[in-house]
Amino acid sequence: MNKRIAVLPGDGIGPEVMNGAVRVLQAISDCFDHEFSFEEGLIGGAAIDDCGQPLPESTLALCRESDAILLGAVGGPKWDSTSHAVRPEQGLLGLRKELGLFANLRPVTAYEPLIHASTLKKEVIENVDLLIVRELTGGLYFGKPSERRGENKELVVDTLVYNVYEIERVVEKAFQLAQKRRGILTSVDKANVLESSRMWREVVNRIAKKYPDVTVNHMLVDSASMQLIYRPEQFDVIVTENLFGDILSDEASMITGSLGMLPSASLRSDLVGLYEPVHGSAPDIAGENLANPLGMILSTALMLKFSFGLDKEAHIIEEAVMKVLNEGYHTGDLNLQHGKQVGTTEMVQKVIDAINENQ
Ligand code: NAI
Ligand code: MG
Repeated sequence: MNKRIAVLPGDGIGPEVMNGAVRVLQAISDCFDHEFSFEEGLIGGAAIDDCGQPLPESTLALCRESDAILLGAVGGPKWDSTSHAVRPEQGLLGLRKELGLFANLRPVTAYEPLIHASTLKKEVIENVDLLIVRELTGGLYFGKPSERRGENKELVVDTLVYNVYEIERVVEKAFQLAQKRRGILTSVDKANVLESSRMWREVVNRIAKKYPDVTVNHMLVDSASMQLIYRPEQFDVIVTENLFGDILSDEASMITGSLGMLPSASLRSDLVGLYEPVHGSAPDIAGENLANPLGMILSTALMLKFSFGLDKEAHIIEEAVMKVLNEGYHTGDLNLQHGKQVGTTEMVQKVIDAINENQ
């Protein structure tokens, strides 16, 4: 298989974890005779330093021509808003919007060797295997007007807008994913208060008729946030709008222990997607070989699965990560008493060794 992959390392630990991800993909392409070509683009603070813009035209063009995009992370104190009018985050928001990446997927799995790294009890988290599907290009984050008004700017307005087609496409995606998993879809809204949520619920109920093999339930967002830490194993796929999804996915991320472990995918209807770890640029540890590369590496597995249909190869990466964790290797962000603490490059090498041994 021949694929063009856009590589956007970004800022802080972004380039360190990206380097690991590319090496892992090279190991996979060697084992399976795939041709992956990697082309680098600037985004975020690195792009601002280079040309004053967080998302240069050349990067956007590269992403448009590629089969999939890998992103490290953007941002850092160097480009904070007091010293810069343009922010690195605008690069990422712009990219998602420009490419129409409307569905953000965040799987949350309890890794047996990391169970004690979580602040939650073992019994609560040991069977967790859930997927949050968050709508990414609509809702409060993009609604207009968004402004301050009045003589003394004493009034503020944000607007929550959804078109029915925006709800349909993300809900449809969530049903398809649920069908391939355990067949349970929880739609999260605030239908007792918000009109947009009532429309959301109508769309879910309508689309549900096409998927009789998926069990659907509706949950109010306040209740869902409570259930997520009370009985998280009840969830299979959760689908929700932008703001609720942002908050719930951060909450869910803590079930597994470290931000550094978590991958994500942002998709549209064709197979093109953007794959990035959930964590940020971690400026406090950048350049010190301390970053956990597993969130980025697991994001490449999502890319193989969702964009390229290479389920077997994706599984081999996930298995390799499990093997390395089972052997006790971990980076310093995982609060584990036992095992062997290693740096970023050693962790990457362990994963590559495990991939090669599996062949
Ligand atoms: P962060 O995720 O960068 O870091 C939070 C804490 O977790 C830090 O103590 C960091 O050292 C640790 N951490 C994060 N990822 C890690 C990894 N892979 N290995 C080991 N430790 C890890 O979030 P924070 O500090 O709020 O933001 C830092 C910068 O990143 C900000 O400029 C923020 O805007 C940006 N950011 C970018 C995101 C993106 O590009 N998607 C997402 C979140 C934040
Ligand atoms: Mg967030």
